[in-house]
Amino acid sequence: MKGQDDTHARILECLVEGNRAWAQNAPVLALGLVVRTFTRTGEPNKAAEHDLGLASANIATEATTRKLFVHQMIGLDPDAARIAFDIPDHAEAFTALAIGYRETSSHMNQALIERDTKPRERRALREFVFTARFGNPAGL
Ligand SMILES: Cc1cc2nc3c(=O)[nH]c(=O)nc-3n(C[C@H](O)[C@H](O)[C@H](O)COP(=O)(O)O)c2cc1C
Repeated sequence: MKGQDDTHARILECLVEGNRAWAQNAPVLALGLVVRTFTRTGEPNKAAEHDLGLASANIATEATTRKLFVHQMIGLDPDAARIAFDIPDHAEAFTALAIGYRETSSHMNQALIERDTKPRERRALREFVFTARFGNPAGL
């Protein structure tokens, strides 16, 4: 949390500039790490990215039920995060998550306000849910 220590500032420094402009207003910043080996066996975890995606989705769902918003960002420098947070070789900062309540802050520039407030457009399920073969819409 902002103010408790400098974690917020250090995560912010790991983000690419475009993300920094937006994320600096979020009260909570977190890093999403992939851990590429299993703790118990040391064997490679082929599902490491999947695990992070699932954990992030669960965070987003829980946050939404609490009327919070989560913005995931892959635009970060993993090497900078490795140094800033002593991340070992078998792990990698893969995403950052900005968490907070939705608001239009006076600190934000007009382009960001427009992006955040414009109506969402979602792809139709038939564009990516297939049956029989890749590309064949499942007839939902
Ligand atoms: C894994 C992942 C990485 C993302 N990386 C970025 C990013 O670096 N910068 C960014 O502005 N949006 C990024 N996005 C998109 C936003 O998090 C968000 O999904 C998008 O702005 C749509 O927001 P909405 O769900 O409110 O429509 C990423 C999304 C995901 C799932």
